Amino acid sequence: MIELQGVSKSYNSGRVKAVDDLTLTVQPGEIFGFLGPNGAGKTTTIKLIVGLLLPDAGTIRVDGIDIRKDPIAAKSVTTYVPDTPAVYERLTGLEYLNFIGDVYGVPKAERLRRIEKWLEIFDLSAAVANPIQSFSHGMKQKIILIAALLPAPRVMILDEPMVGLDARSAHHMKEMMRAHCAGGGTLFFSTHIMEVAEKLCDRIGIIDRGRLIAHGTLEELRAIEREGQSLEKIFLELTAE
Ligand SMILES: Nc1ncnc2c1ncn2[C@@H]1O[C@H](COP(=O)(O)OP(=O)(O)OP(=O)(O)O)[C@@H](O)[C@H]1O
Ligand SMILES: [Mg+2]
Repeated sequence: MIELQGVSKSYNSGRVKAVDDLTLTVQPGEIFGFLGPNGAGKTTTIKLIVGLLLPDAGTIRVDGIDIRKDPIAAKSVTTYVPDTPAVYERLTGLEYLNFIGDVYGVPKAERLRRIEKWLEIFDLSAAVANPIQSFSHGMKQKIILIAALLPAPRVMILDEPMVGLDARSAHHMKEMMRAHCAGGGTLFFSTHIMEVAEKLCDRIGIIDRGRLIAHGTLEELRAIEREGQSLEKIFLELTAE
């Protein structure tokens, strides 16, 4: 579960209001898609949820834990895939995964089983003994995804996770997102790909200039605009200048 209550965040001493009084809840078992134009505040919201930024106002709870009051407990139930695959470049893929396994306290046998499975699925087994700096963009993205899956977290937060993935990997990624939520996990992700949001999400939120301008199921969003409309149309109309 993720709960944001009246969350605001500004940059440049208040001159840029990146997130403006945001309130939303994502229930366990739910895939929540976060849409919005460039610069709308998606990444800022995500960094607030994972505790990389502190809000100017409002409260954020992850799995019932206030991230300001108990940041370590909140982080221990959450994994995060950033918008750029920034990793420890000098570590090998396997060293990186084991490092994440240590940080989250994933038991050895279970860790090996999961790593093997995900490397196989994402076709990374042959490269994992090499330093991450030798990986392609897509390979880096995949190793970060595997690292986010490894702890089997309660809450996953993904910032544009499909960028750089080939069609097969994107397919596995979507399956993985569904499986995570079928097991009672909560998943929050941002995307610019309307079809992905349309097909995958239980609920969708649209943010524009820091404000949540619409949220609900696809059917609920359609009810705001017109019956039977594509998400792309709804998005374009709601975020029009
Ligand atoms: N480090 C920063 N310093 C100053 N302003 C920032 C900083 N990061 C983001 N902003 C501003 O905050 C606003 C929201 O940016 P954010 O990165 O959250 O948007 P986004 O929805 O993730 O966009 P995109 O779709 O391009 O990834 C924008 O106006 C942006 O210019
Ligand atoms: Mg962003």
